[in-house]
Amino acid sequence: MKQLTPDPDGLSGAICVVTGAGSGIGRGCALALAGAGARLLLLDINQEGLAATAESIGAAAEHSLIERCDTSDPDQVAAAAQRCERELGPCTVLVNAAGILRPGGLDELPLALWNQVMSVNLTAYFLCAQAFGRQMRQHKRGALVHIASIAADHATPYGGAYSVAKAGVSMLSRQLALEWAPHGIRSNTVNPGLTETGMTAPFHTDPQIVRRRSGAIPLGRIGQPQDIAQAVLFLASDRAQYITGQDLTVDGGFARSVMATIPRPGYERP
Ligand SMILES: NC(=O)c1ccc[n+]([C@@H]2O[C@H](COP(=O)([O-])OP(=O)(O)OC[C@H]3O[C@@H](n4cnc5c(N)ncnc54)[C@H](O)[C@@H]3O)[C@@H](O)[C@H]2O)c1
Repeated sequence: MKQLTPDPDGLSGAICVVTGAGSGIGRGCALALAGAGARLLLLDINQEGLAATAESIGAAAEHSLIERCDTSDPDQVAAAAQRCERELGPCTVLVNAAGILRPGGLDELPLALWNQVMSVNLTAYFLCAQAFGRQMRQHKRGALVHIASIAADHATPYGGAYSVAKAGVSMLSRQLALEWAPHGIRSNTVNPGLTETGMTAPFHTDPQIVRRRSGAIPLGRIGQPQDIAQAVLFLASDRAQYITGQDLTVDGGFARSVMATIPRPGYERP
C-alpha cells in the first residue's frame, strides 16, 4: 500500500490526459488536476475552447499541452498518445469526458445520429482507454475516470442513443477495471446529474425551467463542473487507491429522490 504523505493525492507532476477539456466538466477537471500539480494533455475537437481552458489553468499551462483531437478518430487518438509520451511522458491518469447530446425518439432515430452519439460517447472512451492505457500498463500504474451520467441507469425518453451509450460506458469501465487490475490500473466512472455546462445551456435560458430543475434536486441547486471535478480528482488520486470498478454518482441526491416525488399523507412536512 502506498503511503499518503507528503502528496496525498499523488498527482503532483502526474501526466493527466483530459478529453472534452474545451468546455464544461472536462474544463472543470483540467482546473482541478492543474490545482493538484498535474501536467496536462488537454484534448478537444474545439480549438477555441482548449485555448480558453489553457488560459484558465494559468501557470500550469506552461507544463501542459493542448491538442485538437476528435477522440472518435483512432488515428487522431493514436497521434495524441504518441505526442503525450514524447513531450510529457507516459500518461498515468485519463479522464474521458468528451461527449455530445442529440435528441430523438427511437422510433424514427436516423442511424447516422445513433452512430454519431455511440462513437463520441462510447467508442471514443474505449479508443482513449486503449491508447493511453498502453502507457499505463508499461509502467504498471494508472487511473481511468470516465464521465458517464445518471442516464447510464435511468432511461431518458427522446434522448436518442445517449442513455444507451452511457450504460455502455459503465460496463466498459467495469471490464477495464477487471482486465487491468493486475497491471496496477484502476477504472471508475463519475455519474453527473443535472450540471450547468455548454451541453445543457439550452435547458438553462428560461428562469422558470431553471427553478423547476433546481427544485427537483434534494440539495436545491443544479450542479457545477467543479462539483463533478472534485469527485474525478478523488478517483484519479492515490486517496482512491483501493477503489476500482465503481460508479460514483454526483447529482445533489436527484437520482435517489423517487420516494420524495409521491404524496404520502401523514409522512409529509411543510
Ligand atoms: N452537463 C450535464 O448535465 C451532464 C450530465 C451527465 C453527464 N454529462 C457528461 O459529461 C461530459 C462532459 O459534458 P459537458 O456537460 O461538460 O458538455 P460540454 O458540451 O460543455 O463539453 C463537452 C466537450 O466535448 C467536446 N467534444 C465533443 N465531441 C468531441 C469529439 N468527437 N472529440 C473531442 N472532443 C469532443 C466538445 O467540444 C466540448 O468541449 C459528457 O460526457 C456528458 O455526456 C454531462
